[in-house]
Amino acid sequence: MTVPDLVIGGNRQQTAMSSKIRVCTNQDSQVLAETIRKSFQDVAERFGLTRENVPRHPSNCTADWIRKDMARGVVYFAIENGNQIMGCVALEWANTEVGYLERLAVLPGHRGHGFGKALVEHALSEARHLGVDYVSIGIIAEHTELKDWYKKLGFFEGESKEFPHFPFGITFMSYAVGKTLQRCAPQDGGPCRLY
Ligand SMILES: CC(C)(COP(=O)(O)OP(=O)(O)OC[C@H]1O[C@@H](n2cnc3c(N)ncnc32)[C@H](O)[C@@H]1OP(=O)(O)O)[C@@H](O)C(=O)NCCC(=O)NCCS
Repeated sequence: MTVPDLVIGGNRQQTAMSSKIRVCTNQDSQVLAETIRKSFQDVAERFGLTRENVPRHPSNCTADWIRKDMARGVVYFAIENGNQIMGCVALEWANTEVGYLERLAVLPGHRGHGFGKALVEHALSEARHLGVDYVSIGIIAEHTELKDWYKKLGFFEGESKEFPHFPFGITFMSYAVGKTLQRCAPQDGGPCRLY
């Protein structure tokens, strides 16, 4: 199955209500990779990211990455309408207290209908169900609209850091699923992951 990068006409009626979120399997890895690559293309273009300067950026995602993620316990969720995957998110467990929200992606032609919010809320609810204290994400520090969007969803902004292998700073954000928020700012050697 291929993923259309733009749905022409009609999709304005789509709402998060008429879609469903499900857990993915290995069989979805090809479509998930394509969805992630296409969704992160605009981010890569905006921040000048290429296969050479950030090879592990999601705009270069392959089915093999997804299969390897799944093999080490990362859970992928897809939002779909009928059989068409419109977006996805992944949840990884750093330890019993911390979950990482990763690979959040909604295809450009399906944005602005609440699918992104629905995916994040679904991942948070899964994390809550599994008993972690907080869910953490690392985003490009200059990606201010995204930062604001996560804040609207209830995430708190933590510290920003530079890393030698990234040509941009990373801001860490956390959502308190359980009780404490004090530990949300990543410590050296603590949880830190770029989506
Ligand atoms: C971030 C993303 C998943 C949001 O998906 P979505 O389905 O459009 O999200 P929602 O419909 O729930 O929310 C859309 C709202 O967020 C705003 N928004 C979120 N991210 C934004 C961004 N990067 N740039 C501009 N606006 C953004 C939209 O303007 C919109 O606001 P409105 O409802 O007031 O019109 C999607 O933009 C995407 O896939 N972006 C590229 C990949 C990416 O950056 N992923 C996040 C990695 S942490």
